[in-house]
Amino acid sequence: MDNKIELEMVEKEAAEDKSLPLKETAKNLVFGKGNPNAKILFVGEAAGRNEDEQGIPFVGKAGKNLDELLSKVGLSLNDVYIANILKYRPPDNRDPLPGEIKAHTPWLVKQIKIIKPKVICSLGNYATKFFLANGDVDLMVKQPGISSVHGKVREIEFMGMKIKLIPLFHPAAIIYRREWLPLWEQDMEIVKKEIAQQTLV
Ligand code: URA
Repeated sequence: MDNKIELEMVEKEAAEDKSLPLKETAKNLVFGKGNPNAKILFVGEAAGRNEDEQGIPFVGKAGKNLDELLSKVGLSLNDVYIANILKYRPPDNRDPLPGEIKAHTPWLVKQIKIIKPKVICSLGNYATKFFLANGDVDLMVKQPGISSVHGKVREIEFMGMKIKLIPLFHPAAIIYRREWLPLWEQDMEIVKKEIAQQTLV
């Protein structure tokens, strides 16, 4: 079946899942955007206010930084797919709780199984730890933090798929941690090199 149709079906199922935590307090499901056949997947943490209002990931300030990253490495939304760990916004943008991550990430795994990306750029601590823990939420606490692993490309085997993981700072963190900006720019060079090597687009 066509990836786009499959993703739409899964999105509909997720929207109808009444047991999904945070549904009560959020306005909209924020499922994903971009190319359903992309070889590169970006995974963030959770929607903020703008994303919650529009039902689309990375449309606020952090999204602007992500758009800049994409254009600096020669990519557009046509080349990538973008999703989050949580599919609903946590109240006041608080950190995701382990139970929420456990309940929401099966939807992310469904997205990954449909898209079958070759490269995953994990944005920030939560997404990075999720993949380093191979999707085992209980093992996330044991994983190294983003400041020690950002820009370090590694091959992972995730749910039977061989994927290159590129951990990156979260684009929202760059807004208030200006000292990370040079590191963020160095990491973009790494993403660029990986893309050039793999003829991903
Ligand atoms: N931050 C995220 O992690 N995801 C979004 O969709 C927006 C901001």
